[in-house]
Amino acid sequence: MMRNEKRLIRALIVLIAMLLILVMANGRFEQNQQSQMTESEDYPFEEENMIVVGFSQLGTESVWRATHTQSIQQALSKENGFFLQYENAKQKQENQIKAIRGFISQRVDYIVFAPLMEDGWETVLTEAKEAGIPVILVDRKISGAEDLYTTFIGSDMKEEGRQAGRWLEAYQRKRGRLNEPLRIVALTGTLGSTSQIGRSSGFYEIVSQHDNWEIIAQEYGDFTVVKGKEAMAKLLRQNQDIDVVVSQNDEMTFGAMEAIQEAGFTTGIYGDMILISYDGVRDALELVDRGKINCEIECNPLQGELLAEVIRKLEAGETVEKEYFVEELVFTRENVKDYLPTRAY
Ligand code: AHR
Repeated sequence: MMRNEKRLIRALIVLIAMLLILVMANGRFEQNQQSQMTESEDYPFEEENMIVVGFSQLGTESVWRATHTQSIQQALSKENGFFLQYENAKQKQENQIKAIRGFISQRVDYIVFAPLMEDGWETVLTEAKEAGIPVILVDRKISGAEDLYTTFIGSDMKEEGRQAGRWLEAYQRKRGRLNEPLRIVALTGTLGSTSQIGRSSGFYEIVSQHDNWEIIAQEYGDFTVVKGKEAMAKLLRQNQDIDVVVSQNDEMTFGAMEAIQEAGFTTGIYGDMILISYDGVRDALELVDRGKINCEIECNPLQGELLAEVIRKLEAGETVEKEYFVEELVFTRENVKDYLPTRAY
């Protein structure tokens, strides 16, 4: 072999060896990078000892809902040791299911969600159960298997309905009209939601104890101002001989009041129709004070602190109750002035 040929072969060997070293070094670097990424993407907060919570809120339909979201965001803050991932389902059950699936694949520590309606959660909550992630219901409940969630934090909706009926009873008694006929219309919230089911059944329970009371019609108003107005206008087109309007949230009440006014009627203590509403947001309490709404059945959105407390108990391995009900009041013109100055929402 010629000297020049030998040199060329040696140079080629050196070049191949250098290339091999480069390829191997690059492979190791990528592997290293990948394992670091997997660690930080899958467990981004473990190092900081944060409790990772996925929260699926059902929407933003009311002041009540905005306050509920804010209460949870404030209580489950970074300062309090939580990493909260918030998803707004915009009133669509499929969005909530998608959000819950996302939380499962991220392996969050807890799933918190306010179910839009009671039915239809079995499959996705079974997936959460199989992944070993505790589910906490807030505000509303689900139908069916109770082993699919750890605990519930929210209102006793059926009791709220009873409170409305009991207030009406006491009001009529006080006016000496308990035995007079009452023609009632109901504006109800999202069909199949715990708030609609509970408030309706609790109220009807009391109505059924009075032979002279009749629910002459009901319409779904979906907990919004626009739908509340539409529903009330429809009811007024069908029948104008109405003594009582029971509206299952303040937004629908505001809409209904517009429709009632446009039809030439008035509500409240000096009005043509008795008006009962649920929630007790500030604007509604002001209308109670002005005598336009007779009675507000409170639905308390401030559930965040209790939620944080329950999660801490679960973290400590303590057993928790299956349901926690928040405290709620009934507001009328007699007591509303005591609460208005401090009403934050
Ligand atoms: O489930 C609670 C109800 O939902 C509140 O009454 C209402 O304002 C909200 O949309």
